[in-house]
Amino acid sequence: MGQAEIIDGKKTAGEIRKEIAEAVRDMKEAGRRPPHLAAVLIGNDGASETYVNFKVKDCREVGFKSTLIRKPENISEQELLNLVADLNADEEIDGFIVQLPLPRHIDAQRVITAIDPRKDVDGFHPENVGNMVLGLPGFLPATPFGITELLRRHGISASGKHCVVIGRSNIVGTPMSILLSRNSEVGNATVTLCHSRSQNVVEIAASADILIAATGRPGSVTAEMVKSGAVVIDVGTTRVPDPQKKSGYALRGDVDFKAVSRKARALTPVPGGVGPMTRVGLLLNTMKAAKG
Ligand code: GUN
Repeated sequence: MGQAEIIDGKKTAGEIRKEIAEAVRDMKEAGRRPPHLAAVLIGNDGASETYVNFKVKDCREVGFKSTLIRKPENISEQELLNLVADLNADEEIDGFIVQLPLPRHIDAQRVITAIDPRKDVDGFHPENVGNMVLGLPGFLPATPFGITELLRRHGISASGKHCVVIGRSNIVGTPMSILLSRNSEVGNATVTLCHSRSQNVVEIAASADILIAATGRPGSVTAEMVKSGAVVIDVGTTRVPDPQKKSGYALRGDVDFKAVSRKARALTPVPGGVGPMTRVGLLLNTMKAAKG
């Protein structure tokens, strides 16, 4: 057994950003305004702040306009719904996101459902979820979208393969399982979706040709869960304390990277794998929203 190919999401994301930047230049040359993304950030959650700051930075890099709207933790649900209504009506904004998680006193699903589906660049609105299931045009959630793009650009086809997704969240595991099982260029896989109630996860995972780990439990995917020659995609980005780092924490994936890299054919690192591709998924959706 050799060493796995490291699937460099950072590099691929950089290439896609270049393509987007060129498309923005073309738009501007044709006399159109650049795409405009708005992000709503409630409260002061450290991880959410980091994610939103990255989104703003990415917009700048590709020539999009961006607007960051910060609101305090104690905003009422009605005030947030009013803000969503304003953003829906604002013709200068092509797409927007409300960063999750929201404070406990706010019903996140109600907020998501209030977003105009044509501006829902997160792809979380029930109409976009339904379109995804049916294979109809719409916005795909950024992480699964980014992962399919990463596989496609690395010549890794899921067609006919056994793909195992561990984790069934609304924003990663569930849509990932749907995209891989659809009859489409990036789909046509046989998909097993494992979750917290699944029995025999180790055996099921070890039968995967493509294993997608989205549990949020650092190091939980061990080498015994990986078939020799499998492709492993690590969606985990858990902050763990690390006094060596300036920030005081390091990002850990769900996969035991060192052990699995001796067994897999290819795998994504954390950081530098799925994360940058998620960010690019949002940019691609915003471009699409701007084109209408
Ligand atoms: N929180 C974690 N991931 C996401 C995401 O993709 N979109 C939003 N809005 N919030 C998140």
